[in-house]
Amino acid sequence: MNLPHKIIIGNWKLNDTIAEGTVLLQKIHQELKGFSAATIVVCPPATHLYPLHRELKSFKSDPKIELGAQNISDYEAGAHTGEVSAIMVRDLAKYSIIGHSERRTHYGETDDQITRKVAIALEHGLQPILCVGENLAQRHDGKAHQVVLDQLNTDLSDVTADEIKKIIIAYEPVWAIGTGTFAKPGEIEDMLRLIRNALVQRFGRLASTESRIVYGGSVDGENAKAIMQLQGCDGVLVGGASLKPKEFAAIVHAGQK
Ligand code: 13P
Repeated sequence: MNLPHKIIIGNWKLNDTIAEGTVLLQKIHQELKGFSAATIVVCPPATHLYPLHRELKSFKSDPKIELGAQNISDYEAGAHTGEVSAIMVRDLAKYSIIGHSERRTHYGETDDQITRKVAIALEHGLQPILCVGENLAQRHDGKAHQVVLDQLNTDLSDVTADEIKKIIIAYEPVWAIGTGTFAKPGEIEDMLRLIRNALVQRFGRLASTESRIVYGGSVDGENAKAIMQLQGCDGVLVGGASLKPKEFAAIVHAGQK
């Protein structure tokens, strides 16, 4: 089932000062003035959440733009230097990306940590944007399905049928991130179907049809429409193109039915 409104999520990654991020947000809002036919989320660096939260409150017209964190700690509080917890983020953001492949690969984040992050996010009212996806070697070895199923199996192990509705699953093949090579339509549809079936099997049809499944990896203003028209695609998770206001706005428009 495709949900009525697409969700377009911008992941700003490690880019922009607070001043630059504020201007970026203003420009995105300006480009999309009056638009209300999509759920729009931006995920800036953690330092930007508070000023951008305030900035959003000053916007008086559509579009409604929501905030997400890029990561949260797998601990709630305590002696964990450098971490930011779900409790700290929840007053500023509605969502948190969890288990992005850059965190899995560059920071050695494990599925066990990701399981804890998902549970902590849900406990404190944050909606997880859970990223899964295979790397190139795994795809070439014919292991893509198994990798994604294993990630889902572990990362969602503490999630209930009621909670799954709040989770957005982002299929992001590692080889498509930041490379300009987006996955082929058939590959995307195949994975979205696999993920949906896994949710249905585990959580039941009703709960599973309400959670959103999105694609991420080299989404831009040109390919966004075709990607979002694919069967089972509820939206996109955008990296590089989310830093360009006109292009991000074009992607948001591309999601309109
Ligand atoms: P790109 O859109 O730059 O490929 O990044 C995708 C991504 O990692 C979003 O989380």
